Amino acid sequence: MRFSQQGEVLRVLTPAKINLSLRILGRRPDGYHDLQTLMVSVGLSDVLQFSPAPFPEVSLRLFSGLPGAAQIPVDDRNLILKAARLLQQEMSPRQGVEITLWKRIPSEAGLGGGSSDAAATLMALNRYWRLNLPSNRLHELAAKLGSDVNFFLDSPPAAFCTGRGEKINAWSLPRPLHVVIIKPPFGLSTGRVFQAWGKRESHENSTNHQPDNDPFQQFRVCHPPSKGVRKLQSLLQNDLEPPARTMTPDLEELLSRLNHLDVIGSGMTGSGSACFALCRTARQARTIAGRCRNWRVGQVFVVSSGV
Ligand code: C5P
Repeated sequence: MRFSQQGEVLRVLTPAKINLSLRILGRRPDGYHDLQTLMVSVGLSDVLQFSPAPFPEVSLRLFSGLPGAAQIPVDDRNLILKAARLLQQEMSPRQGVEITLWKRIPSEAGLGGGSSDAAATLMALNRYWRLNLPSNRLHELAAKLGSDVNFFLDSPPAAFCTGRGEKINAWSLPRPLHVVIIKPPFGLSTGRVFQAWGKRESHENSTNHQPDNDPFQQFRVCHPPSKGVRKLQSLLQNDLEPPARTMTPDLEELLSRLNHLDVIGSGMTGSGSACFALCRTARQARTIAGRCRNWRVGQVFVVSSGV
């Protein structure tokens, strides 16, 4: 998350994420699922701009060249406006704001774009409206907005997340990761993919997975950094992938093509529909991206992570 201020205009670059690993431990009484997930922040960003507006106006304008951008709501269903309204309810600031979003992170992709925008809005308005809310209070508000918002609030290069995904343990990477992201033309609804996971589980009559006694154990194997990024290969597993595959044959086809590439590993991020290939070098990522573009299966992005 990068902030820059010029006069009364505040701009924020809001990153996307990929889930290198996503394990579902079981369904909770509140309808959500307990997770263990390793999230990595990547350099594909939306841009959010906050400009003065007369009290009590809070408005959102959207610019995007992304396919399907016309479907993105710019009313109170948008997480940016939900975040702004939440702060208004909590703190009653006597100022308005005009928010402009340049959307570059595809929606319904499992890339966390909406959550990243919501986190940026909480942080930016906390600053812009001089609310001085402490980090723990912002985290409480973030958890009300969505399960991934807390990750972006801290904006670590990577984190091991538990609970609904809102409990964050920052994690350092051995070195920057070079990733090719492919977003198919169709999107997937997070709720529907979790539902499909539930149906499969009850069909297979399996019981809830037991949490690891030491949930960090599988992640510690990647440290120290000298052990290298290749070790991450053993972590690449997404429990939402099998149900998502059955929902769309095109996703099945894309994942199996990625699986045949000579890269560190590949998979689906979050609840999809975007998939990724984890490459050995920046150069290999550019080559793989060229190959993926020839498949004509969607938009292709070459990104790297922070460390
Ligand atoms: O938290 P968020 O609003 O992003 O979640 C969207 C939907 O995904 C939820 O309504 C829920 O159906 C599902 N979900 C879940 N367990 C989680 C996270 C999300 O069941 N840990």
